[in-house]
Amino acid sequence: MFQSTNYSGNREKDYVLLIKQLQALNEGERNHIAILANASALLNQFLSNVNWVGFYLWKDEELVLGPFQGLPACIRIPYGKGVCGAALSEGKTQLVKDVHAFPGHIACDSASQSEIVVPLYVNDSIFGVLDIDSPTTNRFDSVDQYHLEKFAKILMEHVSHDAIGQIQ
Ligand code: SME
Repeated sequence: MFQSTNYSGNREKDYVLLIKQLQALNEGERNHIAILANASALLNQFLSNVNWVGFYLWKDEELVLGPFQGLPACIRIPYGKGVCGAALSEGKTQLVKDVHAFPGHIACDSASQSEIVVPLYVNDSIFGVLDIDSPTTNRFDSVDQYHLEKFAKILMEHVSHDAIGQIQ
C-alpha cells in the first residue's frame, strides 16, 4: 500500500524523496500505462498548487492524451502546436510563467495560468510529454524544471522496459 508522505518543505530534499518513491513504485513493473498512471498520481499528491498533471503520448505523428489527474482534457495535439507541441518541436522543456502570453497555448482547463511541459524520449525516439498546469501564474521555476526533467528521465528508463512495439 502506498503511504502518503509528509514532505519536509525543503524542495530539493523533497524532490529527491519523490524520485525514490517513483523508483520504488515501478520496481519490476513493465506496463507503461500502469507506470504513467501511477506517476501522474504520485506527482499530483506531491506538487502543491497544480490543477492538471499528466501525459500526452506520441502516436501516428501527433500527441494523444494519456494517463492524467485533473479535469478531462483535449485529446489530440498536433506536432508544434500549443505548449506541449512546442516542447517536442523545440526538443526542450517549456517553462511558461503565464499561459496567456504564450502564442498558441491550448486552453484545456480555464483555471490554468502557468504550465511546465517536459519532452519525453525512449532510446532517442519521441515518446510524448509530461504536462503540469497550475492555477497560479509563475508557479514553476528552475528548481522544478531540474527535478522534473530528472523525474522524466528515470520514468522513461522504467517505460523503456515495456515492449516499444506496444507504445507505437
Ligand atoms: N495547455 C496545453 C494543452 C494540454 S492541457 O494543458 C492539459 C498546451 O498548450 O499544449
